[in-house]
Parts: sequence; C-alpha cells; structure tokens
Amino acid sequence: MRIILLGAPGSGKGTVAEALRSAYGLPKVSTGDLLREAVRDKTPLGLVAASQMGKGGLVDDDTVLALLRERLARDDCRGGYVLDGFPRNVAQADSLDAAGLPGPEIVIDLRVSDEVVLERLSHRRICPNCEAIYHLVTKPPKTPGVCDVCGGALVQRNDDKPDVIRERLRTHYAKTEPLVARYAARGRFHRVDGNGPAAAVIREVRRILDAEPALAAEAGK
Ligand code: AP5
Ligand code: MG
Repeated sequence: MRIILLGAPGSGKGTVAEALRSAYGLPKVSTGDLLREAVRDKTPLGLVAASQMGKGGLVDDDTVLALLRERLARDDCRGGYVLDGFPRNVAQADSLDAAGLPGPEIVIDLRVSDEVVLERLSHRRICPNCEAIYHLVTKPPKTPGVCDVCGGALVQRNDDKPDVIRERLRTHYAKTEPLVARYAARGRFHRVDGNGPAAAVIREVRRILDAEPALAAEAGK
C-alpha cells in the first residue's frame, strides 16, 4: 500500500505520517525531511536545496527525485510507505505515475485554513536528529527544548518564519493544489478536515485506511 499525503504547509502531513508509521509499520518518506538531512550534512544536493527551501519555493525536481529514488530503493519500502510532501507539482506526479510502482495507491488530502497554518507553524519545534515534531501548546515536549524520543535539542525550522510561511503557502496554492483535482478524479482519494485536534484527524485517516482491504491484510500479518 502506498499512501500519499497531500496538504498545505502545516496541515499535519508529518504528524499523520508518523501516526501511520506507528499504527501500520509503513515507513514515513518525507521529502522535506530528506532535504533537511541533506542540508544538515552539507551534501552536494543539500547545498543546492538550502537556498530554495529558505525562500519558500520548491527545490528543483531533479534534486528531489534523486533523493526520493534512493530512499524508496531501501528495503523497508518494499511493502509500501507513506509519502509526505511528494508529489508537489505536475512533473513530480507524472514521474510517480511513470514509475509504475506496484500496489494500490491511496491519497489523503488534509485540508486546513491559512490561519491554522500560521498558528501551527509559528509554534512548531522539531528535533533535527530524529525529525520528531512538537507544538509548544498542543504537543509540548515533556522537558522544554528537549526531544522526548531521542533527547536531542529542539529547534525552530528556518522556514517557519512568517514571511517564508506566506511564500510557502503561495507556492502550495500555485504548484501543489492543482494536483488535488488530478487525484480526486482517480478514486481512492479522500479529503479530510485537518483543522481539528491531531487525535481526531489521525482517527479519521485511520478509519479511511482501515476500510482498505490491502492495508488491513498487511496490518494483520
Ligand atoms: P516540508 O518539510 O514537506 O514542509 P511543508 O510541506 O511546508 O509541510 P510542513 O512540514 O511545514 O507541515 P506538515 O504538513 O508536515 O505539518 P506538521 O505535521 O509538521 O517541505 C519543506 C520544504 O522542502 C519545501 O518548502 C520545499 O522547499 C522543499 N520540498 C519538500 N518536498 C519537496 C518536493 N517534493 N519538491 C520540491 N521541494 C520540496 O504539523 C505542523 C505543526 O502543527 C506541528 O507543530 C504539529 O505538532 C502541529 N499539528 C499537526 N497537526 C495538528 C492538529 N491536527 N492539531 C493541532 N496541531 C497540529
Ligand atoms: Mg512536514
């Protein structure tokens, strides 16, 4: 089962992907996390990506596809995965289709208002070591500034500044939102209201996925 999470910045893709990883054992494949890892490690691809990410635009398709191909080729992706942040434009969706990957593909579109996005992202903190996601009000770490999972020091993402968030939203509506109609026309597409509390959003996504026979069979193994 391949799950694609569509949604604006801050819609909860990473939060939902982590919940699905934990519930179904499907790896979370986030192009944003892969890019931040490359930036942090100062790899050649990371050096290219850093300036594009800092401005709120998309990283070029060749860079993203190179990172994604490498990640999807790893063993843990054989039985499926949760894609968080990919595809993000028509060319990326075309390349995903062209890959002819096996197994059913189910698309979840998380819908949130721009006001919710701004509030969530200004309060977000992440762990750069293990990519755990926190919110200072709705999901604070047990010890302020310290990751519950690995003990790493929490940071604010470079692109979680108000002017960059607004640019990321503009990019989303121009490049990614048009994909919604494409996937909606195919079936196995579900629109989910992402404005509510995380537990309610996750419950709704799981209710949808639990009705998918292929995933239920995997989880029962
Ligand atoms: P990426 O890392 O994918 O960022 P994004 O799409 O902007 O989404 P976010 O990670 O900001 O939000 P999210 O939806 O994951 O929400 P989260 O769960 O964290 O990409 C970053 C950049 O990399 C892009 O701008 C681009 O430059 C580049 N890039 C990435 N992929 C690319 C691609 N395919 N092609 C080209 N470039 C690419 O939640 C947000 C906050 O809200 C957290 O604090 C969380 O705790 C909280 N929260 C979540 N859900 C709820 C809820 N229901 N109620 C209350 N709080 C909640
Ligand atoms: Mg994310």
